[in-house]
Amino acid sequence: MNVCMIGAGYVGLVSGACFAEFGVRVVCADKDESRIAMLERGEIPIYEPGLAAIVQRNLREGRLSFTSDTASAVGQALVVFIAVQTPNGHDGSTDLGAVEAVAREIGRTMDGYKVVVTKSTVPVGTSYRVRAWIEEELASRGASHRFSVASNPEFLREGAAIADFMRPDRVVIGADDDEAIAILRDLYRPLYLIETPFVITNIPTSELTKYAANAFLATKISFINEMANYCEKVGGDVHAIARGIGLDKRIGSKFLHPGPGYGGSCFPKDTRSAAHFARQAGEGFEIIEAAIRVNERQRLRMVEKIERALGGDVTGRTLAVLGLSFKPETDDMRDAPSIEILGALQQRGARVRAFDPAAMANAERVIPGLELCKNEYETCENADALVLLTEWNQFRMLDLARIRSLLREPVLVDLRNVYEPEQMRRAGFRYESVGRS
Ligand SMILES: NC(=O)c1ccc[n+]([C@@H]2O[C@H](COP(=O)([O-])OP(=O)(O)OC[C@H]3O[C@@H](n4cnc5c(N)ncnc54)[C@H](O)[C@@H]3O)[C@@H](O)[C@H]2O)c1
Repeated sequence: MNVCMIGAGYVGLVSGACFAEFGVRVVCADKDESRIAMLERGEIPIYEPGLAAIVQRNLREGRLSFTSDTASAVGQALVVFIAVQTPNGHDGSTDLGAVEAVAREIGRTMDGYKVVVTKSTVPVGTSYRVRAWIEEELASRGASHRFSVASNPEFLREGAAIADFMRPDRVVIGADDDEAIAILRDLYRPLYLIETPFVITNIPTSELTKYAANAFLATKISFINEMANYCEKVGGDVHAIARGIGLDKRIGSKFLHPGPGYGGSCFPKDTRSAAHFARQAGEGFEIIEAAIRVNERQRLRMVEKIERALGGDVTGRTLAVLGLSFKPETDDMRDAPSIEILGALQQRGARVRAFDPAAMANAERVIPGLELCKNEYETCENADALVLLTEWNQFRMLDLARIRSLLREPVLVDLRNVYEPEQMRRAGFRYESVGRS
């Protein structure tokens, strides 16, 4: 089977490489020529553990190729995935410009039966609009090829994307015709063999399932963050609470870790989008609206927490910050809490020295004025406080005595609760974390 993946970003590149690993012939097309040139050399434009080896092996063995010529890639494929970005519009809606451009390109070049699959996260009804855009392009050149549309949302997490794609909790497929379902089942056959559950449904339900998943997970995070804030007021320990409720199988222990709020390329935009389209449909989605508000407030609370740790004023103070990406094991800075938190602290007069194992180049573009450092320890030199913002593994076992000797004041604000309050007090730090006293 020949597959074409349009968009070679986090989702398209991982999905394309993993399908090739299943033994399928995959062409990844992207309009970004410099990205394609890198990929053709076997270089990986994003930080994703394990991805380089899979891309290089499949390139070498001829199952994976890259092109900036979408038309030729579409021509050879039976299944065409759309995996381009779907950012928020100004009003919280979804900007479908890239999806429309790709759908029209497919319509302009299609020369026989294809299944056109929306893998991008899109509002309900988008795959039908994809069908309409393709039909318009076919009609305008007097062509009439048969094709199917389908929805197959992606649930992979950056930082664990390969494992998530190769051993997913489930695969969701939405389609209206048996032929498309049979072809997609066949494509995902290696996952059937490892007994991955498949949810086969109609197109609108499949599109909505992705928003439901992200909205629910975001709500869990906002819930535990509110609980953490409450704990701070009344002397509770949010970790014990998270464990106490998480062991209940009806609740589950995942996504109950307090911190500076969710970020990244998906949760913020998908919750805004879900809320926007529910409002538009005349059905308010109050829980999501609240989860969004709590998340926005949480970032501000972190700014205030850091300010308080420095005596209420950061003007002229220097902060050492470890971690900039929205979570560990990625270089993705899209909607990272660091952008808003550090931006606000800079605005209030703080100098920010920072280190991140993978995201510094991206961070420099979105947080102007950062002083980027070579490692954890250089970052702390002559700073007034250390702020732990992303819990990369290498920040879990810092040489605390060395950190103390480098800082001007022994202040550690741990926004990810990596350390234990008692241990930190013994080590001589003034220690602040989230939801613990
Ligand atoms: N990043 C994630 O963790 C994740 C997880 C699940 C779902 N998603 C969803 O998947 C979609 C893609 O996300 P991403 O993070 O991979 O985006 P991305 O920005 O990393 O990649 C998108 C790619 O599409 C390319 N592109 C745009 N228009 C094009 C066109 N007309 N022709 C060819 N290429 C084009 C861009 O150049 C870019 O390389 C989004 O809808 C997102 O919400 C993302």
